[in-house]
Amino acid sequence: MSEETEPLISSQQRNYAHDDAEHEAAQQQSRAIRIRAIIWSLLTLVFIVSVIVILFGPDHYGHVDWPGALPRDPDQAARKLLDMAPVIDGHIDLPIIARRVWRNNVSAIPLHDMMPMHVDIPRLREGRVGGFFWSVFVSCADHSAEGIDFVNATWRVRDTLEQIDVAKGLIAKYPETFQYAISSTDIKESITQGKIASLLGVEGGHQLGNSIAVLRQYYDLGVRYVTLTHTCHNAFADSCGGLETIPPLHYGLSPLGFKLIEEMNRIGMLVDLSHTSDMTAVHGIMHSKAPVIWSHSSARVVHDVARNVPDEVLSMIGTGEGQKDGIIMVNFSPSFVAPDGKADVKKVADHVQHIANVVGKKHVGIGSDFDGILDTPKGLEDVSKYPNLIAELLRRGWDKYELAGFTGGNFLRVFAAVEDVARQLQAAGTPPVYDIYRKRGDLPQRY
Ligand SMILES: *[C@@H]1O[C@H](CO)[C@@H](O)[C@H](O)[C@H]1NC(C)=O
Ligand SMILES: *[C@@H]1O[C@H](CO)[C@@H](O)[C@H](O)[C@H]1NC(C)=O
Ligand SMILES: [Zn+2]
Repeated sequence: MSEETEPLISSQQRNYAHDDAEHEAAQQQSRAIRIRAIIWSLLTLVFIVSVIVILFGPDHYGHVDWPGALPRDPDQAARKLLDMAPVIDGHIDLPIIARRVWRNNVSAIPLHDMMPMHVDIPRLREGRVGGFFWSVFVSCADHSAEGIDFVNATWRVRDTLEQIDVAKGLIAKYPETFQYAISSTDIKESITQGKIASLLGVEGGHQLGNSIAVLRQYYDLGVRYVTLTHTCHNAFADSCGGLETIPPLHYGLSPLGFKLIEEMNRIGMLVDLSHTSDMTAVHGIMHSKAPVIWSHSSARVVHDVARNVPDEVLSMIGTGEGQKDGIIMVNFSPSFVAPDGKADVKKVADHVQHIANVVGKKHVGIGSDFDGILDTPKGLEDVSKYPNLIAELLRRGWDKYELAGFTGGNFLRVFAAVEDVARQLQAAGTPPVYDIYRKRGDLPQRY
């Protein structure tokens, strides 16, 4: 910076008349160095303060300014907080409703009206939603038709493309409401413009047709997470099954599964560990260079089902020595939340609180599974009810910064970190992964 040297050689410094020219020059130089050191210290201080503000201030909701305290009434406070830091939900199944009810006819789907399940535009607005992942889910193949080795061709890739198509069609049909988003920056921009950031997530390795090339193409189509499994094992990884654990096949990730993680890291596809077996989750956390997510999972200690995350796995997440950054986005499905008939907003808050206790408040978020679950907890019946959960956490002493992390800031941090890892790996010239599923019979074994 040229202007830095200018004032340092001021006329005042020439008053040291008794010094000879050489001494004077040396003094001027040492003074210059001292002043420069002070300026640099100040700049460093400013830098450190800004980093602290960025990391611990009103989080990655860069547009948020906090006009004083929240109202005393928790329900009013929750709404005000969400107006500034809206919900980013990790998993909403609206596209599968479009498929099953309307045969994906975008023209016929009335998102301004009362939709049959939990999601439509009026209720999204009422619930202060700022963004969500549209799950482009298709179900696991029937084992008897596909074959235990996953080698038989299935329609899963076609069907996934159709789900990507219907999600994009609906996003485009309501441009005043939804904004297609493929990056953490996009999400923030959408929210700033009062739109609902709309991202795509693929819910299971079975949707990749055993092919890492398909993963890359999904990324190019805008998909930003892949859940490693759904309720079935696949060529890459073991699933946890459903409510009950199923016997393992690979004992975690398969060799191709490890390669899949490497390619996900390189391209910037979020590694989603919901639905996976505990061993798959452990492998995923250890092998991923980037932070990991659970797009829709709760805590097993609070309710003991295979789909929830056990404490041993939770304790691997964090920013400490040997841990990986990540976020567990809590699922609202009553069957994952509590014993039959007992699921309500307080129980969901228990899951949030438990994860916060074990991992920290910076590692928990929302992954409702709305439209993908048949019933809902009392007080969280649909997307209009998120404020009830925020109010409950306010009653439990969460402050506005912690809650702005929970509603979306924590996810934005994790997403941005995943994008950074991809940038670094690409800058380092990491080559794409070209490994082929070893049971493919349609390609030459060697060349
Ligand atoms: C799709 O929905 C529109 C609007 O309801 C309707 O006019 C059209 O016939 C439908 N198309 C098909 C192929 O069902
Ligand atoms: C593939 O499917 C056919 C029938 O559709 C079945 O006969 C065959 O055994 C399956 N392949 C494997 C490896 O299971
Ligand atoms: Zn799911």
